[in-house]
Amino acid sequence: MFQSTVYTSTKEKDYELLIKQLDALTDGEKDDVAILSNASALLNQFLQEVNWVGFYIWKEDELVLGPFQGLPACIRIASGKGVCGTSVKERTTQRIADVHQFPGHIACDAASQSEIVVPIIIHDKVFGVLDIDSPIKNRFDETDQIYLEKFVDVLVKHLG
Ligand code: SME
Repeated sequence: MFQSTVYTSTKEKDYELLIKQLDALTDGEKDDVAILSNASALLNQFLQEVNWVGFYIWKEDELVLGPFQGLPACIRIASGKGVCGTSVKERTTQRIADVHQFPGHIACDAASQSEIVVPIIIHDKVFGVLDIDSPIKNRFDETDQIYLEKFVDVLVKHLG
């Protein structure tokens, strides 16, 4: 049984523990939905001040809602649309301090103020994105981006 963890070290060390937990949770598992479900739950108990954390998966030319924690969200997002579609189109992490300043932002939860989206690329093909929303502005700093990208690197070892 997974014991809820109290993360009490530095931000960097806490993220390193989280990534080890992800590796252990996914070890030997091949089912993508199971892996992404546990990954969203793990992130949700780790991150403070977030209101949505989950995945969109690339299917037949658009992003489709995958496993997540939070309020029900929009199901389909085209490439280039919103923060998620921009991340896929540009294949880059989008770290948005204020979503209201992002042209075309798709508001799924009215509480969301800032957002980070990390693309998931497997063998040079878009698999999907990790999307995290926060109810406060400027929630995600460079350290969050670095470690969330490492988190996705570990996921990539297990997915596909
Ligand atoms: N805000 C996202 C849409 C997904 S929800 O945040 C869950 C976007 O603009 O792509």
